[in-house]
Amino acid sequence: MIDYKTALDEIYSTLKNAPNKGKVARYIPELAQIDPNNFAIYLNTLNDGAYGVGHIDTKFSIQSISKVLTLSKAFALKGNAIWERVGVEPSGNPFNHISLLEQEQGIPRNPFINSGAIVIADILVSTLKNPKADFLNYVRELANDNSIDYNYKVAESEKNTGFKNYAITNLLKSFNNLHNDVDEVLDFYFHQCAIEMDCKQLNTTFHLFANQGKCIKNKTHLDISKLKRVNAIMLMCGFYDQAGDFAFDVGLPGKSGVGGGIIAVLPNQYIITTWAPGLNKKGNSLLGLQALELFTTKTQQSIF
Ligand code: DON
Repeated sequence: MIDYKTALDEIYSTLKNAPNKGKVARYIPELAQIDPNNFAIYLNTLNDGAYGVGHIDTKFSIQSISKVLTLSKAFALKGNAIWERVGVEPSGNPFNHISLLEQEQGIPRNPFINSGAIVIADILVSTLKNPKADFLNYVRELANDNSIDYNYKVAESEKNTGFKNYAITNLLKSFNNLHNDVDEVLDFYFHQCAIEMDCKQLNTTFHLFANQGKCIKNKTHLDISKLKRVNAIMLMCGFYDQAGDFAFDVGLPGKSGVGGGIIAVLPNQYIITTWAPGLNKKGNSLLGLQALELFTTKTQQSIF
C-alpha cells in the first residue's frame, strides 16, 4: 500500500519555504490581497482515506476551476449539441487570449480558455431558470455542502476590471456565438469564478471525476461516456499553454485557477487539491504544480 501521508508530509516540508512562491494574481484587485504564504494539499482516496497538510480549511476563489463544473452541467443538460459552439483542442495560448477567436470565426478552441467558458456560461444562462442560484445549487449538491457560496466582492471586483473578458464576449456576440446579453453572461461567469471553497470542499465537489461520474452521495451526474470526455479535456486543456507540461510532469487530468488552486484526479483512485496563491507566468500555481509533480513521482501513480 502506498504511504500517502508520508508523501504529503515530505512534499509540504520540501516546498513550504521555497524561495520563489510565484506572484499572486493582480488583475482582479480582490485577489491581489491574498497572502502568498498560504499553502495546502489535500488528498481524498476512494478506498484508502483522506490526508491533508497546511491551510486546508481556508477558503479561496476557485476561479477557472469552476469551468469544469459549468462544462459538466451544460454537457449533462444539452449533450453533444454544445460541441457545435466550442471545440475540444488545446489552444497553445494563454487563458485570456483573443485573436485566435477572431481567426476561427468565434468558435473557441476549448471550454477552459475564457472564450470557451463564456460560451458555456451563455448556454447555462439560456438553459437554467435562475442561472446563478441553480448553478450554485448544483455545486452544493456535488459537494453535499450547502455552506458553499459565491464571494460577491470578488465577482464585483472582476466585473469592474475584466476588460479582456468584455472584449472576448463582445467578439463572441459579433460572431453570433452568444445568445444572451454580454452583461448578463459575464455576470454569471464572474460569479461562477468567484465561488469560494477550501481544499476539502473542492476535493469533495470533484469526487465524481474520480468516481465514474457519481458524486459523494453516489448519485450519477455524468454518464461514463461524458465523464471520459470531460476528463480528457482536463488533460489536454486544463492548464492552457502549460497543458503539455502538466501532462508531462504530473500525468493526471487537472484544472487550475488564478486563485492558486489546482484540482487533479486519478480515475478510480483519488482526487487531490493544492492551494498556493502565487502563480507562474502562465497563471498556474507555482508551488501547486511542483507539489503535484513530486506527488505522482513519489507515489509512482498516474494515468500513464
Ligand atoms: O476570467 C478570468 O480571467 C478569471 N475569472 C479566471 C481565469 C483563471 O482562473 C485562469 N486560470 N488559471
